[in-house]
Amino acid sequence: MANTVLVGAQWGDEGKGKIIDVLTSEVDVVARYQGGNNAGHTVIIGDAKYVLHLLPSGMLHEGKQCVIGNGVVIDPTALAAEINELSEKGIDIGDRLLISDRAHIVFPYHGALDASREAACRKENKIGTTKRGIGPAYGDKMSRVGLRLGDLRDPAFPQLLTERMNEVNRVLEAMGAEPLDTAKLITGICEAARVIEPFIGDSITFLGEAVRDGKSILFEGAQGTMLDIDFGSYPFVTSSNSTAGGACTGTGVPPNKIDRVLGVIKTYTTRVGEGPFPTELTDEIGELLAREGNEFGATTGRPRRCGWFDAVVARYSAMINGFDVWAMTKLDVLDKLATIKICVAYECDGERYETVPGNVRILARCTPVYEEMPGWQSPTGDITVYEDLPQAARDYVERLVELTGVKLGILSVGAPRKSTLRVGM
Ligand code: GDP
Ligand code: IMO
Ligand code: MG
Repeated sequence: MANTVLVGAQWGDEGKGKIIDVLTSEVDVVARYQGGNNAGHTVIIGDAKYVLHLLPSGMLHEGKQCVIGNGVVIDPTALAAEINELSEKGIDIGDRLLISDRAHIVFPYHGALDASREAACRKENKIGTTKRGIGPAYGDKMSRVGLRLGDLRDPAFPQLLTERMNEVNRVLEAMGAEPLDTAKLITGICEAARVIEPFIGDSITFLGEAVRDGKSILFEGAQGTMLDIDFGSYPFVTSSNSTAGGACTGTGVPPNKIDRVLGVIKTYTTRVGEGPFPTELTDEIGELLAREGNEFGATTGRPRRCGWFDAVVARYSAMINGFDVWAMTKLDVLDKLATIKICVAYECDGERYETVPGNVRILARCTPVYEEMPGWQSPTGDITVYEDLPQAARDYVERLVELTGVKLGILSVGAPRKSTLRVGM
């Protein structure tokens, strides 16, 4: 398979984990490029359910090499727990995992800062973060005060962390939060470091050689375009570039080695956490989508907000990422609906918007302009050939393709591997 970047096109949870799992058998390497354990990627294999937060979803395929790139931020304790959990489930990690020595560390103080910023500073303007310390960790990286996984091997590591903690504890106290016990923190990190240390290495050279040798790479995006730090509904976003460009900065693979960009998009929309969501449904249809789609956060368990498909977001996302092809997911969730709406534009203060406005306060006041299509009201979950779908379901999918200008490659009609229709790829 061509070197492919896989990106969530909406607000996350589009089903990226499932699509990566389906495509892993066709590539040599799977590489995560951004985010941290705020992500929750679900893969269903037979009766087993795996939720991966930091490990690439490709880990579940025997023999596949996986990389956690320099652009990811890593909580060593969470990663050690995830590695141990997979090993206990009989997944052989062996020498299949390589974690970049340049990836920044998420420390417990990042989580403490994340939580107290939300509670004490932002209050009613809170972002609704996962409280995994993602924002403060990327903040340290950009402020050039972060520590990286490679630093764990440095004899000076305890001293470097102690110096950092002196400042952090002053900040925590000023925010009214409890200071952290530095000695305890160092002990905890060193314990986790023993589990992850064998996997830390030079991922940049590894991926460079993989490209040189003609191996194929699948770049695993986390979160989604509308959560991107630059292009999302700022400030209600995460702190990394979840869009396609992040694959290059987050792994060190140059743009001219990327062959294809695949957008993963739900056939409706969901969002976890706060922030504007123009097509949100707070009525019984929203409840039906949440129920049929089992829309609960894979990381925090929070209920996901649900709404109609937003073609404005999809078009914007396609433009930024340069999507060559869609993997559309969760069509089966719409099976019971008599009619289905699609948002084709926004209106705000008498003005029509064909693209996502940059000002979040305008986005929050946008109302959707809908067109309506008939539903198919029959189950699609067991269908394995596109042509066997009810005509109304095909019409709906084809309308989404037409509105977004991106062709269909994969259509997912259920969580298991077998519920995957290969259409144009
Ligand atoms: P990710 O973060 O993008 O990997 O997505 P999540 O794993 O957080 O959420 C997607 C959820 O939908 C998971 O529970 C998947 O098992 C499930 N899922 C994926 N594709 C489909 C599909 O086509 N139909 C249904 N019903 N569920 C799906
Ligand atoms: P996957 O990879 C959905 C959301 C949080 C919050 C905002 C900022 O599973 O699609 P953060 O903890 O990152 O500072 O929170 O981003 N968020 C996600 N929503 N799926 C995710 O990941 C998310 N990762 C973060 O809910 O609104
Ligand atoms: Mg998820």
